[in-house]
Amino acid sequence: MNPDHNISLTINENDYHLLVEPRWSLLYVLREVLGLTATKIGCGRGECGACTVLINDIPYYACMLLAVGVQNKKITTLEGLMDKQVPGTVQQAFAKEDAYQCGYCTPGQIMAAEGLLRNHPDPDLHKIRVSMSGNLCRCGAYPHIFKAVARAAEQNKTLGRQGRNTHEKIG
Ligand code: FES
Ligand code: FES
Repeated sequence: MNPDHNISLTINENDYHLLVEPRWSLLYVLREVLGLTATKIGCGRGECGACTVLINDIPYYACMLLAVGVQNKKITTLEGLMDKQVPGTVQQAFAKEDAYQCGYCTPGQIMAAEGLLRNHPDPDLHKIRVSMSGNLCRCGAYPHIFKAVARAAEQNKTLGRQGRNTHEKIG
């Protein structure tokens, strides 16, 4: 089959007009068509969370979404958390807390955390654990990941930002 479906996607506040096959996943379009490779491929079947992106600020597995099905939605990938070269609050918190080992799961973890904090700016540990439970880490970095999410929430509060990614440098 040839890519013969015209679609429009809004990704990281940019509009893209593409020809796709109706069976193509959002993950495939992000990585293979648009070159937005921060979103990782893990299991490819909705089990690991490596491919997590935000759809209207809610975390979703990009491998389980059809690109044709997410038109007219706000799609955010890890690239969208950057402000030029400055990482966002959650990214900085992961770095500060050493919340990774191999780093393969990290983009998905960060997007899940970002989605959590956009909707629940002040989560307790239980809420963090439950909200991050769809993102597997084979290196077992969970304690550091949970600390990083809590740090990002605290930092947002300090900066007076509620539920939004910020780019101020964290001390
Ligand atoms: S690659 Fe999508 S959930 Fe694993
Ligand atoms: S840091 Fe290696 S899988 Fe999570």
